[in-house]
Amino acid sequence: MSDKNTNNLIQLIKARQSVRRFKAESVDRDLIVQCVEAARLAPSAENAQPWRFIVIDDQEQKSRLAQKAFSGIYRPTRWAEKAPVLVILCAELDLLANRLGKQITGIQYYLIDCGIAGEHFILQAQELGLGTCWIGWFSQKGVKKALNIPSAWRIVSLIAAGYNAGNEGKRKIRYNTEKICYFNIVKNGK
Ligand SMILES: Cc1cc2nc3c(=O)[nH]c(=O)nc-3n(C[C@H](O)[C@H](O)[C@H](O)COP(=O)(O)O)c2cc1C
Repeated sequence: MSDKNTNNLIQLIKARQSVRRFKAESVDRDLIVQCVEAARLAPSAENAQPWRFIVIDDQEQKSRLAQKAFSGIYRPTRWAEKAPVLVILCAELDLLANRLGKQITGIQYYLIDCGIAGEHFILQAQELGLGTCWIGWFSQKGVKKALNIPSAWRIVSLIAAGYNAGNEGKRKIRYNTEKICYFNIVKNGK
């Protein structure tokens, strides 16, 4: 891999930050499709590709969704109603990886798969100049009801997307590498 490519990727990763305030400007569907294209290429257990993307860019539909998704204890996420685009990242589980595989290993592969695909989406959005935020604090039941999502699908996350209206310059707060990475042996305690 060339240094240039490596450098581009780490710069993109460093520049990404959660955006919760958006300009009113709408987002071209073509840009969202490019993000879904990037997501589509993600790896997945057994190549099951469980991800499904429901893109909400219609104001009325978004309001209806927000009402159901961000009420009661989920009210803190009401800011997301002002995002020009809300993506519902769902999973359609398959038999081999997500039902039999999970029985044996206990691993919820679809969550990993959708996490990877979602981050592909988000990094592509970053490259296209869009701000995004993962949203895990929402009513599953409410979203399913509002959008008539098949009952067998799982909703993994929502993603808000649009043009950043003033989140710039926040410092990244992260553990350092020594705390999270071990070579060959895990040292107990600290
Ligand atoms: C799975 C997941 C769920 C999240 N849910 C929410 C959420 O419901 N509301 C919110 O404001 N931010 C949410 N976030 C954003 C995190 O708060 C944010 O990524 C974290 O604080 C690090 O900040 P950064 O993204 O700006 O680097 C979520 C992030 C992830 C990965």
